[in-house]
Amino acid sequence: MTLKIVVLNGPNLNLLGQREPGTYGSATLADVEALCRQTAADHGHAAECLQSNHEGALLDALHAAGAAFRTGEVAGVVLNAGALTHTSIALQDAIRGVAPMPVIEVHISNVHAREAFRHHSWISPVAAGIVIGFGIDGYRLAVDALARRARG
Ligand code: DQA
Repeated sequence: MTLKIVVLNGPNLNLLGQREPGTYGSATLADVEALCRQTAADHGHAAECLQSNHEGALLDALHAAGAAFRTGEVAGVVLNAGALTHTSIALQDAIRGVAPMPVIEVHISNVHAREAFRHHSWISPVAAGIVIGFGIDGYRLAVDALARRARG
């Protein structure tokens, strides 16, 4: 059965490709989304991608994914919340609120090798798994993990 894998990107990730290329690389958000769609398709699933610079839009998307998870249409969410990772208790609450839907936290850069304020994540305690520091390949790993998990 074809499932949806929801890929959510938070603030400033629309700037991928031009934003701090030494840290985030040269791939664009369109490249990331194409990689997710291809990886999901390789498993017979479909990636649904959203990027927003607004916390509320990410919360709404998590709630919608949670509702679709309950009806068996969604396998889970891949979430790169950008800087909201380090600030948003609301995102942690949303992920708790849609449990047991699996949410995989992704960071392109190795946040632990960067400034101390990036070392804490409000998402990690409620994430099903975490992929950090593999560049955009982390999205492929996360989509792959959700597809395998859905297979049981
Ligand atoms: C990021 C890391 C965050 O600290 C930063 O605010 C981002 C991107 C990453 O993918 O490496 O916007 O989530």
